[in-house]
Amino acid sequence: MFGNIAPRYDFLNHLLSLNLDRYWRGKTAARVSSILERPEARVLDLCCGTGDLMLKLAGYGSAEVLGSDFSHPMLVAARKKVLESNRRCALFESDALALPIVDESLDLITIAFGFRNLANYRRGMIELARVLKPGGTLAILEFSQPPNALLSRMYSLYSNSILPVLGGWISGSRDAYSYLPESVRKFPGAEALADQMREDGFENVQFQRMTAGIVALHLGDRRRSV
Ligand SMILES: C[S@@+](CC[C@H](N)C(=O)[O-])C[C@H]1O[C@@H](n2cnc3c(N)ncnc32)[C@H](O)[C@@H]1O
Repeated sequence: MFGNIAPRYDFLNHLLSLNLDRYWRGKTAARVSSILERPEARVLDLCCGTGDLMLKLAGYGSAEVLGSDFSHPMLVAARKKVLESNRRCALFESDALALPIVDESLDLITIAFGFRNLANYRRGMIELARVLKPGGTLAILEFSQPPNALLSRMYSLYSNSILPVLGGWISGSRDAYSYLPESVRKFPGAEALADQMREDGFENVQFQRMTAGIVALHLGDRRRSV
């Protein structure tokens, strides 16, 4: 599914979010900038897709940023952008649920609009905790449910009616853009996701809703003992 939409993914992201996706990723990178400014920091942007967040992270400091995804066409699109940008990024193909990375080796993992797609959230969280150093940071940027009932209804209308039609029409994959609202509906709310992070090995967990709660950025540090 992700491979099919890769060629039109960026265009549709910007169009369907009215360019807010750039702002959300920019905010995410800014929140973790103190880690990115450390030259020795080991940073991974997981489920990197076409690489927009990875490139933003790499713009902050001299640390090399790794990007990983299990969709080859997404990585091909990301690689093109890396070559055009001259940023210090390295890409590899892998499943987020079984990362080819040794235990306790990363200072920061970011995951933007990817966590919701994992087949098993708990396994995903535990895998991320495994590869983070004790005290290392996890940043999850993900769609969420706006707490305001009226906004929530308006957003549902948009994501259930307009988004699948427009996204399906432009990408040629109606399924992918029907899957999106469906997967957001099934995803835990911001409070529940924060609780899950605490249960699965993270401390100092906090979240920030953005754009009336359409998305939320969760941050947490890997506990010293899990
Ligand atoms: C909605 S896109 C987000 C891409 C990018 N992070 C962004 O901000 O636009 C979700 C990405 O997650 C990837 N993905 C989903 N499940 C995955 C998994 N289990 N392992 C690795 N990548 C996965 C997909 O291939 C896709 O590129």
